[in-house]
Amino acid sequence: MDSTAEKTVVKIAHISDIHMSENIEETIGDRLRMVNMFGHNILALAALTDTLNDLDLDIIVVSGDVSRNGNKNALAWAKTWLEEAIAYGDYNIGLHLNQKNKPYIIVPGNHDRFNGKKFQQDRDLENYNQVFGQMPKEKRLSVKGIEVLFSLFDSTTDDGSPALGYIQPQQMVGRHRGKANVNIAVVHHHIAQPPNHHREPQTEIKNEVEALLHFVDSDYDAIMFGHTHKCYAELLPVRLFQRNAKYKKRPYLRWLRRILPFNFISKRRMGEPLDGVSYSREKTRDGKYPSFEYYLRYLYIKEVMDKTVSGPRDFENVKHFYRHIDSIENDFDKRYRELLSRRCLLSMAPSAAQAEAELNGFVILEFNFVAKQLKDIIIRRFAHQGGNRYKEV
Ligand SMILES: [Fe+2]
Repeated sequence: MDSTAEKTVVKIAHISDIHMSENIEETIGDRLRMVNMFGHNILALAALTDTLNDLDLDIIVVSGDVSRNGNKNALAWAKTWLEEAIAYGDYNIGLHLNQKNKPYIIVPGNHDRFNGKKFQQDRDLENYNQVFGQMPKEKRLSVKGIEVLFSLFDSTTDDGSPALGYIQPQQMVGRHRGKANVNIAVVHHHIAQPPNHHREPQTEIKNEVEALLHFVDSDYDAIMFGHTHKCYAELLPVRLFQRNAKYKKRPYLRWLRRILPFNFISKRRMGEPLDGVSYSREKTRDGKYPSFEYYLRYLYIKEVMDKTVSGPRDFENVKHFYRHIDSIENDFDKRYRELLSRRCLLSMAPSAAQAEAELNGFVILEFNFVAKQLKDIIIRRFAHQGGNRYKEV
């Protein structure tokens, strides 16, 4: 190994679900007006701030639910907290990112859609957009010579339950990822269920299959989300993303195995909807369908490898079709195996400072590069157990 290869660490703090209130200090009036929806805990926020300021961070990622109810003051407090500091008596609570010239990435969460109201009436992001600007699709940062590409998703676009997530297909379809040294997706809702994660149907992503396929197939090095107020951060082979997922009543494994190859085959057709589920097979001349696996292989050879190949209707029966497919050299199995064994970091950050959350904490992710190639990601978890600092756990 080249001992002169340059080593670089990009240190990212992943925080989520701050739930900032309209007033910096919670009043009795706040509780009466917003039963069951308390905001941030000011002592936790101060401890969080001091802890983050102690760490030498390159980027801060905030994965949604910035505010308790999309109140404009609350969102403005959050922005001030990130960029400068909130004056609180003699004390300043803030990350001073502007002064430090450090960037942050932020996406909206379902709570940011309340626009300061008790219910999600308009369900738009008027207040959020006024304070933080409209969420860009991506943001490219250069840190210590490393190109970091963030893909941002708004998972709060459905008009169903206030906590249910939905990522519009147009946010996923035909999405080109530019080249970068590391690719990170940021979204509020949990697109994958961590192993042994207790499911809560009212707070999940409605189009889980579409979303999961998109994320599995998009070569992200890390996916960051929050929403559940629980902490889970692991580097996993993407095949494990499916473990705790389900699609209607069918075992998900079968669906993912069946649909995933369609997704990478249909990648060639940028701009088309995700059509994996409704793909229909051609028949051979005797009216029989070839097996799903052989049909996938045929499409892969034709559409991804661009090789000349005959379809089922050119053959008398499936046996002849299979023989033809077997005679063409292809790397379908290899490509599929590679896709599923590729590792990706799932980072589910707990609530950073919400008053009634069982756990307040955050995650530090250290991306290690050698000669600008990502080699490893060190995960460090922090929790507030009282006192004026969050502790590494
Ligand atoms: Fe949420």
